[in-house]
Amino acid sequence: MKKLSGQTKIKTAVFISGTGSNLNNLIRFSLTKNSPIKICLVISNNSKAKGLDFAKKFKIKKKIFRFHKNEEKLVIRYLIKNKIEFICLAGFMKILSKNFINKFKGKIINIHPSLLPKYKGLNTHYRVIKNREKITGCTIHYVNSRLDSGKIILQKKVKVFKNDTLITLKKRVLKQEHIAYPLAIAKIFANL
Ligand code: GRF
Repeated sequence: MKKLSGQTKIKTAVFISGTGSNLNNLIRFSLTKNSPIKICLVISNNSKAKGLDFAKKFKIKKKIFRFHKNEEKLVIRYLIKNKIEFICLAGFMKILSKNFINKFKGKIINIHPSLLPKYKGLNTHYRVIKNREKITGCTIHYVNSRLDSGKIILQKKVKVFKNDTLITLKKRVLKQEHIAYPLAIAKIFANL
């Protein structure tokens, strides 16, 4: 990826819909000296998302957009107005349109709780347990117009135990997500 701008840290927006543990983790990472990104904006399609509390806590600008088709134009305009150069999806439950993705081509990444290309889509942990998988994990990938199908940046493996429940597995995978997401971002911008 080409250098996105001449400034020291890349102006980044994080899109969330829920709890925001990845958002919290990314904010903490972005505040470290060696982070290539600065989180300037948190966007949510859900005004009740718990993760919005982290934006408040760290005094980061936040904005709600419902992401209806017609509203995407406003989101794009808002991102441009705020000079956003890079977007991290972190538990964002809306599918972005082709037009939106093209506007930020190669600048949107996502975290998914499985070892892609396995278990694209929703309910990954449920399906992993049901299929008696021995290994699962998480993937950080570029976002393209096909669901969970963009180029893989980084993956972390996680063992699945026989007695795992949705809760225990989710917790163990999340722990790796929190390690993997900053590593993936560092990897993208390593040579700038
Ligand atoms: C994570 O498991 C992430 O991989 C998936 O949604 C979940 C979001 O968790 N896309 P959180 O809101 O970051 O805690």
